[in-house]
Amino acid sequence: ANPTLLILAGDGIGPEVMGQVVRIIDWFGDKRDLAFDVDHDLVGGAAYDKHGTPLHDDTMAKALAADAVLLGAVGGPKYDALDFSVKPERGLLRLRKEMDLFSNLRPAQCFDALADFSSLKKDLVAGLDIMIVRELTSGVYFGEPRGIFEEGNERVGINTQRYTESEIDRVARSAFELARRRGNKVCSMEKANVMESGILWREVVQKVHDEDYPDVELSHMYADNGAMQLVRAPKQFDVIVTDNLFGDILSDCAAMLTGSLGMLPSASLGAPNADGRPKALYEPVHGSAPDIAGQGKANPIACILSFAMALRYSFDQGDEAARLEKAVEQVLADGARTADLMGPEGGSPISTSEMGDAILA
Ligand code: NAI
Ligand code: MG
Repeated sequence: ANPTLLILAGDGIGPEVMGQVVRIIDWFGDKRDLAFDVDHDLVGGAAYDKHGTPLHDDTMAKALAADAVLLGAVGGPKYDALDFSVKPERGLLRLRKEMDLFSNLRPAQCFDALADFSSLKKDLVAGLDIMIVRELTSGVYFGEPRGIFEEGNERVGINTQRYTESEIDRVARSAFELARRRGNKVCSMEKANVMESGILWREVVQKVHDEDYPDVELSHMYADNGAMQLVRAPKQFDVIVTDNLFGDILSDCAAMLTGSLGMLPSASLGAPNADGRPKALYEPVHGSAPDIAGQGKANPIACILSFAMALRYSFDQGDEAARLEKAVEQVLADGARTADLMGPEGGSPISTSEMGDAILA
């Protein structure tokens, strides 16, 4: 049977950028004999408009059954006044929770042609290719006790950083697995100097390494130093694995090494399915961009590169993923630019579908 892909285009520019991915999927079917069973459904505001909920139970069931889910973006001003229980974001949160997507992959990859867009000097980032693996379902954003409490005659705000051995173990494994498909190097970041959870994190990551991944090069770094190293010499890293809080901050920092939001893909992986592959959700980092929605201006590359990640990590098609990434690199080198990739000096940008045309060509 063909691998199954559930497409949830969502709101705003979501359907626009996804339209280009669908053309690319069709191309792989025609030209590379790589067919998928593609299903389309609604998420976010689009699902709310039809069903009164940002994620219908049937859609949730399809997502759990699919080999991979590819999501565009959710949200928009039309839904800002809705009750939190039916806000578009809740559709995405439900997907993440029920698919148990504990490992969030955020690549920071700098195409040479766009190195001028980086916040850093060109030679520090040209050819950069790192992957941050962020633990996504535990840590200080979820730990109990949490709340604002009375203490004496003032209030105290409390969050708890909490990690179990098994939570650290599974995200460490996903980082080592990734490293084997890349540069075979993992740097684990925590604050074992001042945090108990950091001590346990370091110990468990080391143990997983020694027992099952001794072939992967492992180093440990305090997360504050890691932040410094990311902007001092980012090319020293291959895979970085870290907790939810540090990963939130470090991945946003790493994103800005590469330039435009319209270029950044992501993946979130969960526990293995029956066939041993992890449940997976792929999505661009950007949102629904209401300011440019419906105008054919959106850059489809973040969504296209998210599909490339699906090819590599869910469908075992690393060569085809590289083919697609190479095509993106080539069109950028040839000077194709959507509006978000124009420098301050301006120029004449191409449209969403023209970018799709160029990549297909
Ligand atoms: P945003 O990412 O939608 O837009 C930020 C800026 O980047 C805008 O100026 C936009 O035009 C530009 N931009 C974003 N993606 C682009 C692309 N592919 N091509 C060209 N330009 C692009 O973030 P914002 O404005 O904070 O949020 C807008 C809506 O999206 C909100 O409703 C928010 O809740 C939602 N959102 C959804 C996310 C998701 O679905 N995962 C993530 C972030 C925000
Ligand atoms: Mg963040």
